[in-house]
Amino acid sequence: MTFKYFLIGMFASFGLAWLCMIAIPTAKMASLPPVKMSGEEDAEYYQRKTSGRVLNGAQIYAANGCYTCHSQLIRPTYLGSQIFRKDFAGISNADVDTRRETHYDDYLGEKYAQIGLTRMGPDLSNYGHRADAYAAKTGMSAEQWTIAHLYNPRNQKLQLGDQGEEIDMTWSNCPSQLQMFKEKDLVGQGDSLALNINTVAMTQVVPLEQARVLTDYLLTLKRDSALPESMNNAPKNSGAAAADVK
Ligand code: HEC
Repeated sequence: MTFKYFLIGMFASFGLAWLCMIAIPTAKMASLPPVKMSGEEDAEYYQRKTSGRVLNGAQIYAANGCYTCHSQLIRPTYLGSQIFRKDFAGISNADVDTRRETHYDDYLGEKYAQIGLTRMGPDLSNYGHRADAYAAKTGMSAEQWTIAHLYNPRNQKLQLGDQGEEIDMTWSNCPSQLQMFKEKDLVGQGDSLALNINTVAMTQVVPLEQARVLTDYLLTLKRDSALPESMNNAPKNSGAAAADVK
């Protein structure tokens, strides 16, 4: 074998894999047009382009390595359904059931789909809904709750369980993002997002812009909106499944 054939062989084996697994899928998926909810002329678009502050938040999310521990992907049912995991796949209560697996259109308009590397922390696909629920239980706003989590994930007082009991989160290994906060002199009424912690008199700990932008991004994570009918591949709920069997 000459060196020439060795090089050709090497390029073929790596190049072909790169072409099929990266170049072609990227070209196909990078510019998907928005999907309409139905075939009608004036039907709404499934999801408008994600833009501005939310995209900046996604960059901060990526830059701080959140994706190394958090996924944003509710697995397709053929890979092990996660619909049953509480608050993971959407809202499920007596009135509504929005749970569904993730679809690639969920990432429409985002530069990178943050599907994540591992799932050491909980999946964040529907974190926005959970934050709303925490907020309702604690009396804080969802924004305040998230900011407090970023500052100190081990602050167990912020985490309330289903029945309103406190859950011990002192074990949390979500890294604290102290670099996104600073201690500032208290001016006027102070910052509405200042942390509720003891500081030196006349100072308060406030989130820097990046913590605010990251929080706004996290709060938009509600990937359970209705899908156009043709794309809705959520498993049938048990009632419907039982009806189908007959
Ligand atoms: C070392 C792994 C790790 C990294 C990196 C990490 N997290 Fe976490 N995260 C966790 C774990 C474990 C939990 C569950 C414990 C808890 O709720 O504190 C968690 C919980 C959370 C929660 C609460 C989720 C819920 O449903 O209650 C949020 C929000 C969060 N992380 C955001 C982030 C953000 C934003 C980043 C990046 C700045 C990040 N995490 C980086 C491990 C990680």
